[in-house]
Parts: sequence; C-alpha cells; structure tokens
Amino acid sequence: MTGATPFATRELHAPGSAGDPWWRDAVIYQVYPRSWADADGDGIGDLRGIASRLAHLAALGVDAVWLSPFYTSPQRDAGYDVADHRDVDPLFGSLTDADALIARAHELGLRIIVDLVPNHTSSEHPWFGEALTAGPGSPERDRYHFRDGLGEDGSEPPTNWQSNFGGAAWTRVTEPDGRPGQWYLHLFDPSQPDLNWQNCDVRADFRSTLRFWLDRGVDGFRVDVAHGLVKDPTFPPFGTPPGGLLEVTSDAPFWDQDGVHEIYRDWRELLQEYSPERIMCAEAWVSPADRAARYVREDEFHQAFNFEFLDTPWLAEPMRDVIAGSLAASDAVGAPTTWVLSNHDVLRHASRLGLPQDEEPPNGIGPEDLQPDAALGLRRARAATTLMLGLPGGAYVYQGEELGLPEHTTLPDEARADPTFTRTRGAEKGRDGCRVPMPWTKGAPALGFNDTGAAWLPQPDSYADLAVDQQDGVPGSTLELYRQLLALRRERDLGRAGLAEVEGLGDEVLAYLATAPDGTRTLVVANLSPESIELPAGTRVLVASDELVEGGLPTDTCVWAEI
Ligand code: BGC
Repeated sequence: MTGATPFATRELHAPGSAGDPWWRDAVIYQVYPRSWADADGDGIGDLRGIASRLAHLAALGVDAVWLSPFYTSPQRDAGYDVADHRDVDPLFGSLTDADALIARAHELGLRIIVDLVPNHTSSEHPWFGEALTAGPGSPERDRYHFRDGLGEDGSEPPTNWQSNFGGAAWTRVTEPDGRPGQWYLHLFDPSQPDLNWQNCDVRADFRSTLRFWLDRGVDGFRVDVAHGLVKDPTFPPFGTPPGGLLEVTSDAPFWDQDGVHEIYRDWRELLQEYSPERIMCAEAWVSPADRAARYVREDEFHQAFNFEFLDTPWLAEPMRDVIAGSLAASDAVGAPTTWVLSNHDVLRHASRLGLPQDEEPPNGIGPEDLQPDAALGLRRARAATTLMLGLPGGAYVYQGEELGLPEHTTLPDEARADPTFTRTRGAEKGRDGCRVPMPWTKGAPALGFNDTGAAWLPQPDSYADLAVDQQDGVPGSTLELYRQLLALRRERDLGRAGLAEVEGLGDEVLAYLATAPDGTRTLVVANLSPESIELPAGTRVLVASDELVEGGLPTDTCVWAEI
C-alpha cells in the first residue's frame, strides 16, 4: 500500500535497490560449535552435528551461518586460541567434515562465514615455540611482541597494560639458557600471545589462511578483535585499564589504531579476486559510531557488528538515538548497519533485558548474584528482536535466541571454563552462561544435544520447556515468532527499506515507517512506556512480539503493521 500517512515522519535512511548484494540485508545466525549439536556424543558439539541440524536454520529463514572457531586449538579460550588456522581440531572433526558442512549448507541455500582470529595465536602455535627457542632479537620473536622488562633485573612488565581477561597483559618467559627473560604481550589470556602485524611473515600467513578457506568455498569471515591488531609502537603507559571484556576504550594504545585499516584494505582486495562475492564482518568494539564506521568504508569490511546497539539499555531515548545515529554513521560511508543483540561474549538478551536497565550489565551471573526477571526479560527480548529485524541493514542472531533462551545464571563455579573467571579470581563470572548446549528435544539425553547425555556445560532446568520440539508449530512460541519475522522481513524487503521516524506516538514509543524499494510500507512500533498505547488509525497488525490487549499495544511489545 502507498499513500499519505496520518502522522508526521522524519527521514533517517534512504531505501536500497533491488540489485543490492545479499550481505547488505542478510540475517546471519551464529553457531557456537561447542554447543550446538554433538554427533559423536563426547559432550562437545562438532561439525558433523552442525551439518545434521542445518535444516533447522533453513526453516528458520536465515541467509547465512557464522561458525565460531573450530580450528586446531588447546581450547584455553574455547577455540579463540588457534594453534593451526588451516586445520580442524579433532574435537570438532576433520577438514573433510568442514567440506561436507560447507557443501550441505550451500545445498540448503545457506552461506557459510568462518571466524578468523588474527590478533593472536595460541601459545601452542609452532611460531610461538620457535620464538621461545630462538631467543631475544630473533626474527622468530619479531612475529610477536617481545620486550625486555623494566627495572634493573627486568622483572617489571614493559607497560602497565591490563589483559581483557584480568591481570597483566604481559607474561615473562624463561630463556633457552634457563634465565628469566623477556616479556610477551597478550591482550587476552597468557595462552594467546598477540601477533606483531608489522611483521611480513604474519601478513603473508594470514593471506594464505584467507585463501585456504576461500578456496574451500566459504562465503566470508567474521574477524575477531578487528580493532586490536596494531599497537602504538611507542608502547606508552595506559592509565585506565579496561574494566571488562573488550570494553570500548578507543583511546587505548592497543585499540582502534589507524594502522589497522591498511590490513583490511589488503584483505578486501584479496577477497575481490573471488566470485561469487565473499565478505568480511568486523568484530570491532569501537565507539563512537563514526569511528566504528571507518571499518566499513567501501574498500574495507562489508559489515561491522553494531555493538552500540547491543550495549544500549531498553529505554526509549537511548534506543532512538542509537538507531538514528548508527544509520547516519554507516550511511555516511555507504555501508549497511549490522544489528546484533546477543553473541557468545555477552549476557543473552533474554536475561540482560530482565535486569535493571540503569546499570551496566555484568560479565556473567552466578547463583548468588541478582537474578534477572525471566518473564520480563523474555518479553523485552521478543520486542527488541522484533524491533531489530524491522530495521534496514543486516542482523546477526545468536544460537538459541530463537528459542528465547535465558542465560544460565546458576552455573556452579566448578563448571566454569571461561578464562575470565579464573583470571579475575571469580570477580567476573564470565561468559559460560551464554554458551550452554542447545536444547533440541525435551526429555532426550542432554535435551537432544547428543545421544549420550554428556554436556561440557550443564543445561539449566528451564531449557527443557524451551527445546525446539516444544516450540515447533506452537503459535506464539518464540521460535514461531522468529520464523514469522524472518519470513515477513524477506517478503516486505525490510532489510533494504528506507526508514523514517514516526513522530507523535509518545516519548517512550519507538515508531518507524519502513518503505521498501517497491513502495511496500511497514510500520514498526515498540512501546517502551509503562502504559498500553493505541496504534495509529488504519493500521493492520502483521506480527506482534506478544499479544495485543483490546487492540492496544501493551508495554514492552513491538508490532509490525501494514499502513
Ligand atoms: C571473541 C572472544 C574471545 C576474544 C579473544 C573475542 O572478541 O569473541 O570470545 O575470547 O576475542 O579471541
């Protein structure tokens, strides 16, 4: 339908066009391989398990799948500590399994994005062993950041930089002659030494890794810690150590240095040799939005996660600002905005939104901490997702959010595996609560994650009733809501729509008019006020995140409507 609207609007974003490439409005589903499906029954998910469950994703209606790392790794940071970027860890299968998974995904019309971890290697990468053996001043050490310590005997770390997982960002090594020696930099765990991106071997090796996976048919890369590869070469002291995982501190001498961009320009050129088009998505915890937008200039990344959106509390004013601000910042460089609400590093949004919204969410929740309001969190999560999928651009969905899974907030400390928990001596519970194995079938061993009942992290009781088989075909379930949203999003071309803010529905109501390239109009309204509101006259509701009451839109509900 087209025609006049009964309300005032303010243009935020112009529509795309029918010929736009797929990634500009793609919805990409993140699979965390340890926890999605476990074919061999050892309690840790694997590639064969993933391949066997891909039909779930085709039925959900996503465009692509991003797989967190499944490469050879001692698993000190759940695979983000890579010992061989060009092989599969036996825990997850083999290269043959990876090929079969890529082929199966393509058969189902799903693209495959793999993770690339260029900021660091595992300390079990052959290069790190060579660096230790070769000693100070060697070309082998130059691939990492080795420095002499401060103080007379070099026993003080070279800078005061702190690791994101807690503790100093430097660890001292023992030299081949047995004496205490140099220090190496690790922005994360000591088992993840940072690579020196000024070194030619490093640059050449990652080019080979890109080609290796591109030649195997992957459709793109999610690039880990994309804002961290280059360090200020003067290694200055940094007064304010980061307060938590990847906290946005753009002034840090190790985050968002200008030198990172030439690396991505080089990779973009390499990707351009391939057809059909391959993409890269930046994990760059950078703010403000115009600084983050530099990563998606036309000769760099195709996408960058919109972490400002993920970090925004469920309050109308900051939400309205972040939506308008991120569209403006990405439009300024001609890029799409890439929305996201959950991933394997943050509290699941069904729990995050059930906590007080005027405080920073914690990094993990334990049994003795304030527990989220589960019903409120789920209600808001459904509304937030309905809002997100109604916005133009791309979006990422984290495994299990389509079931409304909450964070596991009562994991016993003994079960925790995230290095943040140990490195902060339990001060931060860490990220295990969002990484718990998927529930597929109520009553089955490990809720259908495998046949044996083994699970590397225990599943909470609440997961049984949220299992896929409990929601499949059930009207009003979160799974059916996601399916409906994704189908309508495609049908009404919301990812390529122009967007205008609708005014006059109230300060605590977010309302947008999305106009697709063919003129189809969709009204997206989220009510964050404490009162139920009336929808504008002449609207016909297409989908609602929760039931409407007497035709009104209750608190914490979002609808899409025809107008
Ligand atoms: C990943 C984390 C990981 C860290 C170090 C992050 O950005 O998403 O899971 O611990 O990088 O590789």
